[in-house]
Amino acid sequence: MAPIIEMRNVTKLFGGKMGGKNTTVALDDMTFSVDSDFPHIVTIAGESGSGKTTLMMLILGFYEPTYGQILYNGKDIWKKMTREETMDFRRNVQAVFQDPFAVYNPFYKVDNLLSIPIKNFNLAKGKEEAYELMVTALKRVGLRPEETLGRYPHQMSGGQRQRIAVARALILQPKLLIADEPVSMVDASLRATLLQHIRDMNQELRIPILYITHDLTTAYHVSDYIIVMYKGAVMEAGDVERIIRDPKHPYTQLLVNSIPWPDPDHLWGEAAEGTARSSGVYQVGCRFADRCPHAFEPCTKSRPPLFKTSDSQVAACFLYQNNEILEKKDLGSILKR
Ligand SMILES: Nc1ncnc2c1ncn2[C@@H]1O[C@H](COP(=O)(O)OP(=O)(O)O)[C@@H](O)[C@H]1O
Ligand SMILES: [Mg+2]
Repeated sequence: MAPIIEMRNVTKLFGGKMGGKNTTVALDDMTFSVDSDFPHIVTIAGESGSGKTTLMMLILGFYEPTYGQILYNGKDIWKKMTREETMDFRRNVQAVFQDPFAVYNPFYKVDNLLSIPIKNFNLAKGKEEAYELMVTALKRVGLRPEETLGRYPHQMSGGQRQRIAVARALILQPKLLIADEPVSMVDASLRATLLQHIRDMNQELRIPILYITHDLTTAYHVSDYIIVMYKGAVMEAGDVERIIRDPKHPYTQLLVNSIPWPDPDHLWGEAAEGTARSSGVYQVGCRFADRCPHAFEPCTKSRPPLFKTSDSQVAACFLYQNNEILEKKDLGSILKR
């Protein structure tokens, strides 16, 4: 079966053509797929500006790729789709945004927010069935329906709003959920429970989830696999536990060392000065070479491919140039077992 979502050599430029002085390469030749037979949580991690939100907007069909294709169930989402195919795609690929209520009408009560998708996608036969769907979804994210349904977004906390956004996505029983920094605007004390609800959903409903974050601590707790991005490209990918405990790529090592772990023996590292943004001026060699403490000759000459560093881990780094190479198109094979 075709993966639900597949990105084939997707590049997204903003502000001009490739090579232009003012051009930003937000995503750089990304190849990646999500398979519904393996409903894992995969974290997309990286500093601000590394292309995470762009990746999400491309998958949702909100941005058109500059180069490359995005396929839903094997069909290019930018080629002509029938109305049924469009509806199917819209229903099955759902997202939770950093601040979902920035995109919702503030005059809509929670009832409306939840009943509109039910109506649009014809999910219920009548009012009662629609109500049941709303109640079930709200309970699943730990909200009491009677306290929630009659309220407006501004009458709720950030954590409650984010739960409603998750409930709304859930009602549609999607085949893929993408969550972009879903807990970054939620109080620290509530983050763990919200992430736990997302995790439960993944396991009970078997929905694959792309969890987008700059925060490796939550990535470690919530996800099975991780893809570490820098300047719109994959630096390291594989089993989350292995990568965070034993990062192989110097960029991941820098990120991991700057996590404030609650372990007093583990010193707080300082992330080195630098930028995760990529300009349009073509950079020969490794994208991280100018910040890398281990850079050596090959790093300035060509782009490192993905080298296997274990059976469940790859790093785009010449330190591992004697290892086997994993073809980009096979990245998915590292993310399921
Ligand atoms: N709509 C846009 N117009 C112009 N530049 C953009 C736009 N969206 C993102 N970018 C640029 O693309 C790069 C990647 O951004 P983004 O995907 O938002 O990164 P992240 O989510 O990892 O912080 C950044 O340099 C950003 O400034
Ligand atoms: Mg972002």
